[in-house]
Amino acid sequence: MTNSIDCKDILRRYLKARIPFISIRTNERNRALEIIAELNEEMSIPVYYHTISQGTRELLTNRLVNEDRSVIGGLDFAVQRISQQQNNTFVFTDVQDIEDDSMLTRQFKDIVMVAPNTGGSLIVITNASISSGLQRLGMSVTLSPPDEDEMADIIKENIEPYQSSMKIEWDANDIQVAAAILTGVSRIEAENIIATLLANGQILKEDIQQLMKAKDQIFADISGIERVQVREDYEVGGLEGLKMWLEMNEKLLTADLRESGIRPPRGVLLVGVPGCGKSLSAKAISTMWKLPLYRLDLSTIHGQYLGQSESRLKEALQTADHVAPCVLWIDEIEKGLAGATGGGDGGASTRIVGQFLYWLQESLARVFVVATANDVSKLPPELLRRGRFDELFFVDLPTPTEREEIIQIYIKKGLGMEINEELLSKLVQLSDGFAGSDLEAAVREVVKQSIVKGKDTVTEKTFIDYFHNIVPLSQTSPEQIADIRLWGRERAVPAGKQHEQNEPDSIKKSGRSVIV
Ligand SMILES: Nc1ncnc2c1ncn2[C@@H]1O[C@H](COP(=O)(O)OP(=O)(O)O)[C@@H](O)[C@H]1O
Ligand SMILES: [Mg+2]
Repeated sequence: MTNSIDCKDILRRYLKARIPFISIRTNERNRALEIIAELNEEMSIPVYYHTISQGTRELLTNRLVNEDRSVIGGLDFAVQRISQQQNNTFVFTDVQDIEDDSMLTRQFKDIVMVAPNTGGSLIVITNASISSGLQRLGMSVTLSPPDEDEMADIIKENIEPYQSSMKIEWDANDIQVAAAILTGVSRIEAENIIATLLANGQILKEDIQQLMKAKDQIFADISGIERVQVREDYEVGGLEGLKMWLEMNEKLLTADLRESGIRPPRGVLLVGVPGCGKSLSAKAISTMWKLPLYRLDLSTIHGQYLGQSESRLKEALQTADHVAPCVLWIDEIEKGLAGATGGGDGGASTRIVGQFLYWLQESLARVFVVATANDVSKLPPELLRRGRFDELFFVDLPTPTEREEIIQIYIKKGLGMEINEELLSKLVQLSDGFAGSDLEAAVREVVKQSIVKGKDTVTEKTFIDYFHNIVPLSQTSPEQIADIRLWGRERAVPAGKQHEQNEPDSIKKSGRSVIV
């Protein structure tokens, strides 16, 4: 992440060095132009900028110097000036079509080749990719959305003028909280959000809540990543190993790690038997850690055109970086990556896997990824290599103790009561081979009856009958479950309590375990 200050420092060096081609990677044209204008004042060199709505103008005075609005026209003017005068800088803000070796790209290259003779420089402000042939002739710098400190300044600047004319309850601390929430949005978006609050005629403490909603709206329509509203009360039964690991890593996620040389936790991959709490755990982590939950749907990332999937994934991951800290949930990751193990889509899936893994390894943002998978045979092996996810957990069918816990959770929730020990152990016995979802479904039937026919119609027999009625997946597709278990036990750390078995075990157990 490069904030305004860092970006300005880098640009200053480039301009002093008279680098002939500079690209500023950002969505925020005006913020970038302001930085250049500040440097222009500092360095007093001639700087012009081109837009297709206004032609070419002098940056500091805004005086029109060339009427031709086309990019080609702007370039013609630039090359003319650059050949006549020393140290001219031309900024282009509306350049399209320089991704590959187009006419325009060649035109840029031609000028960039002669510019050094007179210390000329071309700057392009864009978020699109630039042909590598052109980019290699120069340097590039990224301008990220405002960071927390910059955001706090933006908020202050925008509310200060109203300090005397309306009630503003935010103190320095509230502004800092607001800034933390807004990081990830552009300056203009932040200013619009603040303006909307000011339009109420006052800014109250509770308006902070509005900020999160406003930010969600901004990111809501970005393809591939969606905010998931989570309820407060996800209760996950069992999975003690996973819970312990999470407890330890929560501290690492928020700790200041700058000096320590270790990176914040990147995430976990949960594989295992369907219906045993993988997706539920993803949601639970977000509420437990009080972090917003975003869902990345890899299957919507896939585009029709060559390269489209990659650019969509890039956008989605960038968004995740911007909304950090957050939990990024990738449900049934194997489906989105289908074909990566040798498909007929021109290698797009393989590139997607590579791109995803690269991000997983390189991103410094506090994005905690929770990926889940049912069908492990479809998982690309690279995903499982050490150092990618922090840990690979195997979520198995619940053990008797875990079943007891899950049954109690749903009876308490749905019926507001507890059942006696004897019945409980009977139900645990009856539910051998049940997944968490089967247990929930059985209790749900009882709850339904209690609502429809009255609570007093619910007897021990009611429970037993409904539990009898459930036919778990482990019974209908025993081979499938056996395969998943075999795979998971060999390669992953058990998410449940260790040394607790939920069947007489003929299958080899995992040699690995979590160290806590
Ligand atoms: N360990 C568990 N504790 C509590 N409820 C569970 C558990 N496992 C499954 N469930 C119930 O079953 C439903 C489906 O589980 P889910 O997490 O979606 O399964 P999967 O592992 O296939 O992602 C959950 O929404 C929840 O109601
Ligand atoms: Mg699931």
